[in-house]
This record gives sequence, C-alpha cells and structure tokens, in this order.
Amino acid sequence: MGKGRQTSAEPGTALDLAELYQAAVETAADALLVLDEGGRILFANPATSRLFRYAVPELIGLPVTTVIPHAGLEGGVRELVGLARDGEELPIELSMQAHVVNGRHIVAGCVRDIHDRQQAEMMRALLAKRALLRTDIGVALTVGETPQGMLQRCAEALVQHLGAAFARIWTLDDERGLLLLQASAGQYTHLDGRHGRVPLGQLKIGLIAQERTPVVTNDVIHDPKINDPAWAAREGMVAFAGHPLVVDDRVVGVMALFSRHRLTECTLDDLAAIADVIAQGLERLRAEAAMQAKQAELNRVARIVTMAELLASIAHEVNQPLAAMVANARACKNLLRAPVPPLADVQSAVEDIAKDGLRARRIIGRIHTLLEQGRPREDHIDINAVVGEVLELTRHQFVGKRIVVQTELATGRPYFLGDRVQLQQVLLNLITNAVEAMSRVGEDRRQLTIGTTCDEPDHITVHVRDTGIGIEPQHLERIFDPFFTTKADGMGIALSISRTIIRQWDGRLWAMPNGQRGTTVSFTLPRVTHPPQCS
Ligand SMILES: Nc1ncnc2c1ncn2[C@@H]1O[C@H](COP(=O)(O)OP(=O)(O)OP(=O)(O)O)[C@@H](O)[C@H]1O
Ligand SMILES: [Mg+2]
Repeated sequence: MGKGRQTSAEPGTALDLAELYQAAVETAADALLVLDEGGRILFANPATSRLFRYAVPELIGLPVTTVIPHAGLEGGVRELVGLARDGEELPIELSMQAHVVNGRHIVAGCVRDIHDRQQAEMMRALLAKRALLRTDIGVALTVGETPQGMLQRCAEALVQHLGAAFARIWTLDDERGLLLLQASAGQYTHLDGRHGRVPLGQLKIGLIAQERTPVVTNDVIHDPKINDPAWAAREGMVAFAGHPLVVDDRVVGVMALFSRHRLTECTLDDLAAIADVIAQGLERLRAEAAMQAKQAELNRVARIVTMAELLASIAHEVNQPLAAMVANARACKNLLRAPVPPLADVQSAVEDIAKDGLRARRIIGRIHTLLEQGRPREDHIDINAVVGEVLELTRHQFVGKRIVVQTELATGRPYFLGDRVQLQQVLLNLITNAVEAMSRVGEDRRQLTIGTTCDEPDHITVHVRDTGIGIEPQHLERIFDPFFTTKADGMGIALSISRTIIRQWDGRLWAMPNGQRGTTVSFTLPRVTHPPQCS
C-alpha cells in the first residue's frame, strides 16, 4: 500500500500516504476486504464489521464464505446474498480484484449493501405493475359490451397482473339475497356449479358480502374459513383474498382470488383499490339498466298515443257487439210480426241486446281510461333541455354503435307550451330511426346531429340529421303513413305517432334527404314568447 511514501498536499505539510489510505478505508461506507489465496479474510474495514455484525478481529482469519456463502475468488461484479452474524440474509453487490503483493496472491473485495437499491427497484416494478393492473381494470370497465364481458376482463386482469391461480366476481341480487357468479378467469372459467349462486351469509363468499369485510389468508390449508382444505392442498393453493364490492355503503358484489404464492401487503392494497373501481363500474351498469328501463317505459307510453292503433282496436272490439245487437234487433222485429209472437224468444233476444250493449260500454270505458292516462299536460318546456334528456337516454346506443353525436342548440330561449313526455317520445322516435339507418352504413361515417333554431319569432325548429342509408324519394311522404315500414322487424308507426303528436301542438313534421348522404327529419313547434322565470 505504498507504506512510507510521502505526499505534500499543501506547502509545508508532509503527509504519510499510508495514513491517508487508512483514513479513507476506515471511513468508507462500503465494506472492504482483503482475502488470502485460500479465501480467508486478512483485512476488513469497520464498514465490513457493521454490515455483517462481527467485530473486526473476529473477521480476521474467517473464511469469506461465512459471510458471503457463494463468494468466489474470481474478479468481476456480482449480486449475491450475504449472511450477517444473526443469520439475516443481506442483498449485496460484491466486486473482487486479484493482486500480487510482495509475491503473495491476494484478492481485494468491495461489498456494497444493495438493500435500499433493491427495495427501490422493487417499488418501481410494483408501481408499474399496479398502474398496469389499474389501467386494464379501467379499460375493462369501459369497453366491455355487456356487464358479464366487463367483469370477465376484470377477472382476467387480476389473474394476469397479480399472478392469481384464478379470480372470480359475483354480483348481488338484492331481492333474492343471492350472489350470482358473473366472471371467472384463470384455472376455472365455468360459471355454474357450487359457487354459481351463493346465498348471502353462506360459504366464504356469502359471508364476505354479509359482513362487508375483506378476508385474506396466506395459509389457506389451515384457515378454518376455507371450505375445502383438501382441494387447496391438492392444487397447491397458498393464499386467498376476497373483497366485498361496496358503493355508497351498499354491497353490490364480491371479488375473490386464489393464488399459489403468498399475497403481500401491496397486493392487498391493490385489491382494495380495485374493488372500489369495480364496484363503481357495477353501479354505473345498474344506472344504465335503469335508464334503459325508463326508455322502454317511454316506448310503452308511445304505443298508448298511437291513434291509428287505438282506432283499429276500438273498431275491432266495438264492431262485434254492435253487429250482434243489430242482428238481434232485426230478429226481434221479425218475431214480433208473427200472428202469435214467440215472446220467450223475443225476451231472450232483447236480453242478448242488453248484454252486448253493456259489453260495448265496457270497451269504450277501457279505452277512455287509456286516453285519460295518456292525456297530455301543458307546461313550459325548454326544448334544449329535452334534447339533452333524450340524448342521455339514448347514449348507450351511440357508444355501442360508434355513432358520433353533435348538438347545435339555439342560444335563444326555445320554450314551447306542451307535454314534455310527448316531446321526448318524438325525439326518441326520430333518433331511433336515425340510429337504425346508420347501423346499415360503415362505422366510420356515423354522425348524428341534433339542432334547435329559433330564427323565426313564432316557432322553433328542431332537426335530427343522420348519415344513414337515406330514404328512397318515392317513400318520402309514405313514411308518415301508419304501418309503413321498410324494416323486417319494424312496426311502421313511430313516425305516424310523431306526426300526430306534433300536429296536436300545431306544428309540422317532415323529412328531407341530405345533400351528400342520410336524412334530416325536422319539426316545428310554436314558440312561447314569455316563459315563466322558474321554468
Ligand atoms: N332517418 C331515417 N333514415 C332512413 N329511413 C328512415 C328514417 N326514418 C324513417 N325511415 C323510414 O321510414 C319508415 C317508417 O319509420 P317508422 O319509425 O314510422 O317505422 P319503423 O322504424 O319502420 O318501425 P317502428 O314503428 O318500430 O319504429 C322506416 O321503416 C324507414 O324506411
Ligand atoms: Mg322507427
């Protein structure tokens, strides 16, 4: 080590180089070792003592393999595991270099504690994995076409990113108190069997939902909550985690996984976070289903105001008793003409007439009740707001069919005095037709535009423009006839109902082909000049 050599760092100060080496070696943060050719420690600095928890004198003469079991004497840099005096394993980086000093072969080594570095790397990898898992779950919840499809993608993401043997998701049917298995990925993908429908409070899944508490174990074979330890042992399952899916204090389902390796604290944190995201996704699906039910209800109401349909059913139902009454009256007239009228027969015919009369009255009464229910209200209606409501109701169709929607709403206050539900029905009918027309053209050219204008002082115009297949010129007026349809499953009444409704409010409804492609269906409604402040 160059003992005895002098250096002069500053003028007038002579320093011993050996002392400088010693100071550097003793204060070094890394463990420094010198080994003889047999691998025994000849020299160790204080950092070596701190790292392996031996006093320096204890280290001298010790085989280096006592503290670094897999240390070789070859040069180079390697990541290894060191062994502290108390048996703790230490992640280290060892660099060795052979030297010849005074004809003796020695090896100098530097040992660096890489615990913090490894932790940081692990944390980085973990965060990256976590981000990927969350992204996949987020994507799964937005792109799936059906609730089952979405949940299946979530279960697959759990298997892929958390290394689960299999993962499953149940939703809670509140009314029946049943958990229904919706998705299963990994080793088991079937949805039937014992876990297909789990009553609340039964099996571990039912208990998780009932108690709203996550269950986690890294020792499934000995966990009393695991129903089938023999199966777990046979399959080599080590860990189980189950989480309730809760939104606003309501349980909406359960998510669970089995794993062949231990689950760390971080995995459990991830599961808790994901449980929240999935629960919110389920809640969104539920809200959408409710919205669709509302739309179905609107469609049902639309049927009630179908004048053509109603008139047909009145005619059909009332015709029968009327025809019978006429026939019986004629029969009576003939019977009474006889020299001795058969009064019993006459009486029976008159009774039949009375019965048929009552039947006709009941039919009329029923129709009257229907009309009462469907009677329009008169309110100040903000047309722009109604456009927004109907778009909200139909949003799911646009996403599924990749339709781009645009609104061009009038900035003036487009109010009209009429019935909100009827206006919703008209818009719904026109939008449904537009969506159907665009379903038959390529996905890249589906654009729906809904606009309102109040350029005229006395009326508002609403238009629904699509880029669909368009209307044959010879059909342009016929499309408003009751029961005119060009669709295999169409009824051909939506436009006739819509025209009836618009005319009822003194408006007009018409269709025009667009210049390039598709159709614009428009209607006008009288504009109210002084809407009340509150509407
Ligand atoms: N936007 C549109 N683009 C192309 N054709 C249309 C459009 N709107 C309506 N039509 C044509 O008008 C016809 C009548 O429409 P209407 O809505 O009354 O009945 P439907 O859609 O056939 O059935 P449903 O009564 O069940 O809605 C349709 O069958 C279709 O041929
Ligand atoms: Mg239609």
